[in-house]
Amino acid sequence: MYKAVVLGAAGGIGQPLALLLKSNPLVKELALFDIVNTPGVAADLSHIATPAKVSGYLPPDDGLKKALTGADIVVIPAGVPRKPGMTRDDLFKINAGIVRDLATGIATAAPKAAVLVISNPVNSTVPIVAEVLKKHGVFDAKKCVVIKRPTLLWLFFDFFPKRLFGVTTLDVVRASTFVSEVLGDLSLASSVTIPVVGGHSGVTIVPLFSQSSHPLPAGFSPSDLQALTTRVQFGGDEVVKAKDGAGSATLSMAYAGAEFAGKVLRALNGEKGIISPSFVHLSCDKAGGDSLKKVIGKELDFFSVPVELGPEGVAKLHSLGNLTEFEQSLIQAALPDLESNIEKGVSFIESPK
Ligand code: NAD
Ligand code: LMR
Repeated sequence: MYKAVVLGAAGGIGQPLALLLKSNPLVKELALFDIVNTPGVAADLSHIATPAKVSGYLPPDDGLKKALTGADIVVIPAGVPRKPGMTRDDLFKINAGIVRDLATGIATAAPKAAVLVISNPVNSTVPIVAEVLKKHGVFDAKKCVVIKRPTLLWLFFDFFPKRLFGVTTLDVVRASTFVSEVLGDLSLASSVTIPVVGGHSGVTIVPLFSQSSHPLPAGFSPSDLQALTTRVQFGGDEVVKAKDGAGSATLSMAYAGAEFAGKVLRALNGEKGIISPSFVHLSCDKAGGDSLKKVIGKELDFFSVPVELGPEGVAKLHSLGNLTEFEQSLIQAALPDLESNIEKGVSFIESPK
């Protein structure tokens, strides 16, 4: 039974995500932080007959620190969403500072928590969190515990990169849904699995349909495959356009965020064999990260890959499997944006303007 914290809990994603976490039997405590409205959201959720004890915090009186203390898992949907005509990168100006400040709180109050970043642009906000954690010596500091025995000196290393995740699950959920639509049977949606790799914006989103658990129908043409790929890559725009200025995906994101958080919690709790794509630092599994870099032919620090989850966060990075020529070309097309998005996040902390 774990303590879960939502930062940005009064928002369009935050509220339904908090509702779903309140319903998760592995959550014993749920702390909600936002700059507005969390006391009301917490009071409302606290009447639901499930075990999690709910509390709401605002910035005054060290609210962030109080919310985060003792956290096992922190989910961050804080920040502004897109309006029609905007890219996710257009959100950087506002969201980078919000995420940096929340990450500073995590580094000091909950450095061992698993951190799940939803705030866009994910390709840049995840590197921002990593850089803040590094600055505080709780990311890749290889902290060691020294235990002296009469003749031996044991060193134990703690690798915190294992606990930072960019949440790309909505891309995975969309791919499953759209394939079940193509197959003409929505009842398949929850059982269709498709790895989606790369990053979380436009062409950096790379669905690997050749590895779908449910093959696409015979006669599915290359142009059909291109259209399906584009729909997953720009699924977020579909929702932004339909909401017509009222924001971006919130309910499907809350579903996806709760699904990924649920998997992280089950793995923390000792369940084995749980694999889900996530945007992670490739040093969290050196062997897996190095072989991925060989496949993509680039020295990137972050990439979304199928991650096997464990009690420490990342247990193992899985390979991208056998890629078709089309999928290889999608990955190559993703690299320039990914590289510049990551660099933008890193330099925001290293050399703020
Ligand atoms: P929203 O405006 O409805 O909610 C955001 C919440 O963040 C608000 O309640 C706001 O008060 C709060 N907030 C702002 N500054 C804060 C701070 N310093 N500390 C704590 N809380 C703060 O927006 P939303 O629709 O919930 O979207 C939130 C973010 O999630 C956006 O950046 C959006 O682009 C992103 N998003 C990501 C994915 C994904 O797949 N990763 C999917 C959908 C949306
Ligand atoms: C999504 O994929 O729906 C989110 O990243 C929100 C957006 O801006 O599209």
